[in-house]
Amino acid sequence: MNNLNHIAIIMDGNGRWAKKRGLPRSMGHKKGVEKVREIAIYANKLGIKCLTLYAFSTENWKRPEKEVNYLMSLPKIFFNKYLKELMKNNIKVTMIGDLNKIPLEAKNIFKDAIRQTSKNTGMILNFALNYGGQSEIVRACKQFAKDYKDGKIKTLNEKTFNNYLYTKDLPELDLMIRTSNEERISNFLLYQVAYSELVFVDTYWPDFTCTDLDKAIETYMNRNRRFGAVDEK
Ligand code: FPP
Repeated sequence: MNNLNHIAIIMDGNGRWAKKRGLPRSMGHKKGVEKVREIAIYANKLGIKCLTLYAFSTENWKRPEKEVNYLMSLPKIFFNKYLKELMKNNIKVTMIGDLNKIPLEAKNIFKDAIRQTSKNTGMILNFALNYGGQSEIVRACKQFAKDYKDGKIKTLNEKTFNNYLYTKDLPELDLMIRTSNEERISNFLLYQVAYSELVFVDTYWPDFTCTDLDKAIETYMNRNRRFGAVDEK
């Protein structure tokens, strides 16, 4: 039986979901926020230890200003509506990414949610915000080089490098899901995805259901994870 501690999701297809219905793209993101709530509550009930969601990438700044502003208002919409429920479900909120560029209001809302839920012992709901895998690796290398120079660290290997990543305190990534029929990693958790199973689903994120999550988990459970080794005879 495959252990399943950490799932990451690339929540793609909000724009296309909206376009298909003749709605503005923001409506797709709004619906996407409701899905975050539904899937997080369900994943916690399933006993998943950590769910990492790709909420905004370092490349998403290239979108029209109006859309970027709307995306930056999502934390407020989400936590105003659902923070109480997250608390009731013992869910702990964390985030990875570069908070520096995030507008003050969104930043404060995140900080407050992280603080309020910090003692919760259920699932970690980890948001990747202004996150990029390449930039995470470069940042880690810079910090490592500095610590090496200062004599704080002597050995660099896969294990010690891990301590320089945003995800250092999170369980190893087991499963990465991408919605909307795109089959790319898009700069998400590049280091962490090394031996994760990948599941691509057709559904746009606003249409993704708990049953779709069950199916992705079932696919994962049926995979033969060998981590580069061979099966025992
Ligand atoms: C990709 O779809 C989705 C995003 C860039 C945003 C995803 C964010 C959420 C669903 C909510 C995040 C919640 C919080 C609390 C921060 P797309 O717009 O690229 O879809 P498209 O490829 O169809 O255009």
